[in-house]
Amino acid sequence: MNIIVCDNYQELSVMAGDIMAAVVKENENCVLGLATGSTPVGAYQELIKKHQAGELDFAHVTTFNLDEYYPMAVDNAQSYHVFMQENLFKSINVPADKIHVPDGSVEDAQAQCEWYDEQIEKAGGIDLMLLGIGENGHIGFNEPGDSLECGTHIHKLTESTLQANARFFGEGEQMPTHAITMGVASIIRNSRKILMLVNGVKKYPILKALQEDVVTTQIPASLLRLHPDVTVICDKAAFYGEA
Ligand code: PGA
Repeated sequence: MNIIVCDNYQELSVMAGDIMAAVVKENENCVLGLATGSTPVGAYQELIKKHQAGELDFAHVTTFNLDEYYPMAVDNAQSYHVFMQENLFKSINVPADKIHVPDGSVEDAQAQCEWYDEQIEKAGGIDLMLLGIGENGHIGFNEPGDSLECGTHIHKLTESTLQANARFFGEGEQMPTHAITMGVASIIRNSRKILMLVNGVKKYPILKALQEDVVTTQIPASLLRLHPDVTVICDKAAFYGEA
């Protein structure tokens, strides 16, 4: 696990945008794994800038998002479908039929999970998987526990995640208690390169824990230590614990 410490969020976002852009430039048919949350928004803005400057073409790129709340209507303002449209897809040219986000509106979540894994396999896996990390060490919505599921599955959100994500929901808006998420094994097995972004002082304890030479399902992100090509880009606040 290679850790790069940037001065601030802006620098982190520029670096992440450059790494992602390089993957697209190297292979116009590449497959990108994408994340939601506040952390990757700056990197998405960098990709949009490059696209609008005519430097980056997404016409042949395929994307797979990590997760989606369940149950969740596709057009709900809190859905990750809408988040991705607003923060990235509406401003670049990935064809709609190459965009994949788990569908939280289906009745048969299990069938949706199996279909999702099949699509990733059919696409030949993921060239670059972008990840954030939860304060509790989750990746996607793989929450700490005694065991972790391998493939895409439906997962109950922990109290810590419900609290951390409550900030995205308005007063009176019900936050879903479950999510569909790629499994830890699918992330590790299916991704050739992994790029994790970590920013802000709140992430200091988990980033510190992640640097210990231990793998535990109580810190799902620690399983990334088993992957041969993981780069973590963090800001000074997350690395040194000072705001
Ligand atoms: P954040 O979420 O980017 O909003 O901090 C990260 C995560 O929970 O994976």
